[in-house]
Amino acid sequence: MADSTVLVLGSTGSTGRRVAGQLRSRGVPVRAASRSGEVPFDWSEPRTWEPAVAGATAMYLMAPHELPVDPAFVDVAVGAGVRRIVLLSSRAIEVMDDRRLLAAESTVRGSGAEWTIVRPDWFNQNFDEGFFRPAVMAGEFAMPLGDVRQVFIDADDIAAVAVAALTEDGHGGQSYEVTGPEALSFGAAAEIIGSAAGRTVRYRGSPEEYLAAQEAIGVPRASAEPALAGFAALREQGDGEPTDVVRRVAGRAPTVFAEYAAAAAARGAWAG
Ligand SMILES: NC(=O)c1ccc[n+]([C@@H]2O[C@H](COP(=O)([O-])OP(=O)(O)OC[C@H]3O[C@@H](n4cnc5c(N)ncnc54)[C@H](OP(=O)(O)O)[C@@H]3O)[C@@H](O)[C@H]2O)c1
Repeated sequence: MADSTVLVLGSTGSTGRRVAGQLRSRGVPVRAASRSGEVPFDWSEPRTWEPAVAGATAMYLMAPHELPVDPAFVDVAVGAGVRRIVLLSSRAIEVMDDRRLLAAESTVRGSGAEWTIVRPDWFNQNFDEGFFRPAVMAGEFAMPLGDVRQVFIDADDIAAVAVAALTEDGHGGQSYEVTGPEALSFGAAAEIIGSAAGRTVRYRGSPEEYLAAQEAIGVPRASAEPALAGFAALREQGDGEPTDVVRRVAGRAPTVFAEYAAAAAARGAWAG
């Protein structure tokens, strides 16, 4: 869409910030929205919705962890002229029975707009920007995934795929499984982060260790336990396989995990 203005939700977050930045570097007008973003947008404040979508013809749609994509907002956006939607979803949502993201996908498919669904594996940036960072700094993190290998993906590469889908024709009706170039166990990822950061970073991979780690950060067992079934299903699925989506859709080589870790360490991500 040559004349498009793109509304980017989650524009201060790991993916949205990069989507907005990459769009701007291509000269595409951006409305960068979130509660604290340039354009105010709050999922829980419907009065912010219409002003946020005003003038946008395409949208990077993401909901933060735990929050659903409200179908009423998608209706508002399409009614206001959004003709193309790129949704941030996640890999393995059927296996993990992630009803929040399954519902978001179904909302977007039925929206009447041209849609593309971006389904990334685990973000590299969980380790330096996201929810693993405090545990990395404390020297130990837990996920109940044992030694099963996941195909960690860099948020810059996710953004590059989303930007291609937002700005180029030919991506409508596609669901893209976005991965990095290599499958790694969380234990291997911890070793790479530790050696780049010059720290000891241990990985604990059993459900019991995961629950204990959650309790240590104030999440009661009863609140943490429901997620275990999804993680167990993911673990049983076995090692993840890399896809060629970053290369095929964004025309770039996906970032190698060790290169991500070295660059983050060089920026001082785990200093102090
Ligand atoms: N991490 C992973 O490994 C992974 C893998 C696959 C899929 N995902 C999915 O990716 C999504 C998270 O994406 P991300 O990592 O790019 O985001 P993120 O870094 O967690 O940032 C969340 C963004 O949402 C905004 N936000 C928070 N609460 C909001 C509200 N009530 N209304 C409007 N905006 C709000 C935040 O900005 P303000 O605070 O300014 O509002 C921020 O821009 C989740 O849906 C998750 O399931 C994650």
